[in-house]
Amino acid sequence: MIDRRAAQRRDNGVTKKLYVKTYGCQMNVYDSARMAEVLAAHGYAATGTPEDADLVILNTCHIREKAAEKVYSELGRLNRIKQARRMAGQAMMLAVGGCVGQAEGEELLRRAPFVDLVMGPQNYHRLPDLLRRAEARATVDTEFPSESKFDHLPEVGGGAAADHGVSAFLTIQEGCDRFCTFCVVPYTRGAEYSRPPEDVEREARRLIALGAREITLLGQNVNAYHGAGEGGEMSLAGLIHRLAELDGLKRLRYTTSHPRDLSADLIAAHGDVARLMPFLHLPVQSGSDRILKAMNRQHTADDYRRLIEKLRRARPDIALSSDFITGFPGETEAEFEATLALAREIDFAQAFSFKYSARPGTPAADSPDQLGDEIKSARLAALQTILARSQAAFNATMVGRTLEVLFERPGRHANQLLGRSAYGQWVHAEMPGDYRGRCADILITEAHTNSLAGQPALRHAAAEAQAAPGAFEERPPA
Ligand code: 5AD
Ligand code: SF4
Repeated sequence: MIDRRAAQRRDNGVTKKLYVKTYGCQMNVYDSARMAEVLAAHGYAATGTPEDADLVILNTCHIREKAAEKVYSELGRLNRIKQARRMAGQAMMLAVGGCVGQAEGEELLRRAPFVDLVMGPQNYHRLPDLLRRAEARATVDTEFPSESKFDHLPEVGGGAAADHGVSAFLTIQEGCDRFCTFCVVPYTRGAEYSRPPEDVEREARRLIALGAREITLLGQNVNAYHGAGEGGEMSLAGLIHRLAELDGLKRLRYTTSHPRDLSADLIAAHGDVARLMPFLHLPVQSGSDRILKAMNRQHTADDYRRLIEKLRRARPDIALSSDFITGFPGETEAEFEATLALAREIDFAQAFSFKYSARPGTPAADSPDQLGDEIKSARLAALQTILARSQAAFNATMVGRTLEVLFERPGRHANQLLGRSAYGQWVHAEMPGDYRGRCADILITEAHTNSLAGQPALRHAAAEAQAAPGAFEERPPA
């Protein structure tokens, strides 16, 4: 249906309201911020509720069935809001982006005919045009365009629509050529693409100018990064060395990595680049070689162990995180035990674990050896017990230590701020001032499952040595 009022308001330059709901991974968080920026240039300002939004975008995740199904229940809820607004004489456009949009396309419109626009993650730069088309009739754009969205999106921070924060995400690589047999990403995000290093650096500088002190470089398989630049092709390690030189930046991280693409220069960078944080998310998925092979992971459990050893040699305090899948088709009890053994052995600081979810179109979904939900759940619970113990033990070792914390935002109590340690743990502390965007040494006094608490380290020292005021001043860059 033609929404003439909305078109009119746009043409009159009246501000319209945009509500974006984000599901899934950090790449979607980054994309949502960029969509808000594209639309800010077209008169949209963010709102916190769908009830007063002229445009609602769901930025969706297709990685597991549960995540995808959530989208449909949310769409039902939004349709009720849309109808209520219509009764009140107000229009609402409903758009679905992200990987569900890409994977389902026209099918989504069949299941939810009240949706105005369905688009894939590669088409956000076309949003204003797509919305214009969707005002006339329901539109689907899941084409993989020949142009890169990154070349056509406005500069980051454009229109001041999105708050990128003290800790910002920067997508440097998208898509994946690895084709793990359980994973939809190669189909929803397409072939691997690396942004040129010059573009990445320009965006990093812009983020720093907007207040970022920590940047997490994002990619579905980020360590496969190979951006073609002025000086030839650059690896992720090269890019990290380059970005670590930027004034004002305190910390760099990258995620998510594939063990097969963890090159020697990247491991070395963990030892050489002080601003590269001693934390790595390196999914292993399983501890069984047969299952790893069936998953097409292209490495063995021992290859993974060797990588961890090398990383620890390069950076002895590196903390490790991983992803696991339980109940992959055909997984035997003994094969699952191999996963438990690996989980016990590595001392992960953090880990995410999931029941295998058969995704349409992926090779593993066609396996005749699918396991029942009960086995998958029981195995998940057993694995999570070990991983939770490991995380708690890691956090407990922090008590009594002094950690450098980069503060990001206010906590729940007065004067309390929330920041992250180098290992990515959330740390609460009462601070003697607004330390957002600044680092301070915090003596850790409590460890919880998902966070730590502490106090400025020099408060202790102050009692003894009467440290001069200003002792908590921002440190020079590492
Ligand atoms: N079923 C369960 N977990 C999955 N993941 C990816 N695809 C599936 C699936 N089909 C998990 C993997 C991956 C993380 C992002 O999600 O562990 O590393
Ligand atoms: Fe999916 Fe990661 Fe495997 Fe690529 S490497 S197919 S994104 S699990």
